[in-house]
Amino acid sequence: QRLEMELESIEKGGYEHFMLKEIFEQPRSILDSMRGRMIAESNHLMMSGIREFENKFVNANRIIIVACGTSWHAGLVAEYLIEDLARIPVEVEYASEFRYRNPILNEKDIVIAISQSGETADTLAAIELAKSKGATIFGICNVVGSSIARATDAGAYTHAGPEIGVASTKAFTAQVTVLTLIAMIIGSKRGTLETTKLHELMVELETIPSKVEEALQLNDQIIKIAEQYKDVANCIYLGRGYNFPVALEGALKLKEISYIHAEGYPAAEMKHGPIALIDEQMPVVVIATKDSSYEKVVSNVQEVKARKGKVIAIVTEGDTTIPAMADHVIEIPETSEHLMPLLSVIPLQLLSYHIAVMRGCNVDQPRNLAKSVTVE
Ligand code: G6P
Repeated sequence: QRLEMELESIEKGGYEHFMLKEIFEQPRSILDSMRGRMIAESNHLMMSGIREFENKFVNANRIIIVACGTSWHAGLVAEYLIEDLARIPVEVEYASEFRYRNPILNEKDIVIAISQSGETADTLAAIELAKSKGATIFGICNVVGSSIARATDAGAYTHAGPEIGVASTKAFTAQVTVLTLIAMIIGSKRGTLETTKLHELMVELETIPSKVEEALQLNDQIIKIAEQYKDVANCIYLGRGYNFPVALEGALKLKEISYIHAEGYPAAEMKHGPIALIDEQMPVVVIATKDSSYEKVVSNVQEVKARKGKVIAIVTEGDTTIPAMADHVIEIPETSEHLMPLLSVIPLQLLSYHIAVMRGCNVDQPRNLAKSVTVE
């Protein structure tokens, strides 16, 4: 027993929980996921899995992404990336819905299956169905040799390393990193992403690990915010554009490990429902970084404040407009909006983690949840 406990504490590398360790590993796991695949200085951008199927990708009619849970959120980010950079229509589907709804698919479609474990039963079944209809299947898995990795025609591994905490953190940012590389590769091959823009993005992507490192330094500030909100019953997360999937992921992290009811919403949809919930008891986490939808998010923050909601805002360093309105401000480094999810998700992971610890929850093994769901 004692030996087991000692072993576990060594595995946690000095952190109190695997989840915290994995959150702090992200500068490294993001770097590992792009290592060998991209070097901005020499304009090197290559993924062997894609190269094999390059023509299929370039000529694809449609890309359908299937996944579950956090991997599905990474898929949503990819929808924005691939449509914007590569101009191929993308649909993102819950594997569990896709597999039972007689989807329309053919040989010119590419199905991208995203799975940390590579063992999720619904995702595997979605792949088998897509295969039977003749689509090309590309896998993005973290676990080498997993069932999904073996079932696909080609793929790319995320190099996040083993993820033990049930709530996914470093696997998500690794998935988004790999999907960004894929969008850039297809965009450049299709000629929809011009060389200078591509180069800029590559240079910026290379700075992300150190910017994640900076975002992790917000930990102490986030602990203080967590102390104030640990006893709430509900929480709303808002974001637009590339930050909309991040709002969903932030809410999922909070409900998974702290058992607080949380909902993620595209900020502009708030007026069609969630706004009715806002009063002085309601914390609203708003991801309001400087991007093309910033001005609109500013109005959403005003709407929340007019109803006395408590605003916890994630903003770009140096912003002065939102800090003048928000109750709490978390500043993250500036980056291209295409890459923002890799940074904006970090404070949300930390916030959920600390709230869950303060509530006495078992963060690494939350009740009723499993790391990999191998049954329907
Ligand atoms: C479970 C896990 C989640 C994960 C989801 C999909 O629900 O608890 O963290 O996001 O499955 O798992 P996968 O391994 O396919 O990414």
